[in-house]
Amino acid sequence: MEKMCIWIILCIIISGTLSQTDLGDDFFTFPDTSEVSYVQLFPDKNVTFSEISLCMRFKTVKNRHFALFSLATKKSANSFTVEAKKRHTFSLSVHTHTSIILKKPFARDWTSLCVSWTSKTGNVELWIDGDYYEKGNFKKGVNISGVPFIIIGEEQDSYGGGFNKSQSFIGDIADVNLWDRALTEEEVMELIYHDNIRGNVITWRALRFNIIGRVTRYTAPCLPIN
Ligand SMILES: *[C@@H]1O[C@H](CO)[C@@H](O)[C@H](O)[C@H]1NC(C)=O
Ligand SMILES: *[C@@H]1O[C@H](CO)[C@@H](O)[C@H](O)[C@H]1NC(C)=O
Ligand SMILES: *[C@@H]1O[C@H](CO)[C@@H](O)[C@H](O)[C@H]1NC(C)=O
Repeated sequence: MEKMCIWIILCIIISGTLSQTDLGDDFFTFPDTSEVSYVQLFPDKNVTFSEISLCMRFKTVKNRHFALFSLATKKSANSFTVEAKKRHTFSLSVHTHTSIILKKPFARDWTSLCVSWTSKTGNVELWIDGDYYEKGNFKKGVNISGVPFIIIGEEQDSYGGGFNKSQSFIGDIADVNLWDRALTEEEVMELIYHDNIRGNVITWRALRFNIIGRVTRYTAPCLPIN
């Protein structure tokens, strides 16, 4: 009895802290509600980004403007923000500079996205379902510094706040990884086709996160092995 109580207390303590969780094949489902709902992601280290790469997968049936990834610093609420305008345009913001980086319709099924930006050259590289696109001269010469506030599911208009539910994401998000360097083509292909690359700032396989609102974590059921 005593042992059991200790276990229960331990479990409460462990689940109450921001422990790292391997989310594997799980995904977050962002429901269509009037409530502001998002997942805050905590980086494994505080870094100044002179290069940054984000990879993630998403699935939505909605045709509207939504934010996929929102990284704010005290300097700028849109320090690194990736958005989709309806179903056919991706836009990127680095600090206050926002620009369309790709016009391409995307499917209603899972879409895989990798985007990287390099301060020194201003190069933006984008992979949608493994297809490569690029854009030059994007916010060249600035760095993203300061403790980041990172969110999926909503867009920040201020540090850790300023949400607008008409820009919220509705659907599923999985496999979020973030790096403080630009990925190579080989790495992106390894990630998309073999799933064996891990982000060095945010890792889906060891994620520290906090769910706010009505987001649910969907765990793929374990299938019996014959
Ligand atoms: C980053 O800095 C913030 C503020 O000082 C701190 O709360 C947080 O724990 C740091 N994160 C890491 C991973 O060191
Ligand atoms: C940005 O970071 C790079 C690499 O750390 C550094 O060489 C460069 O001077 C920084 N640029 C600015 C504007 O701070
Ligand atoms: C939320 O976004 C919608 C559509 O972009 C806009 O019309 C509205 O003014 C925004 N609300 C706030 C509080 O910013």
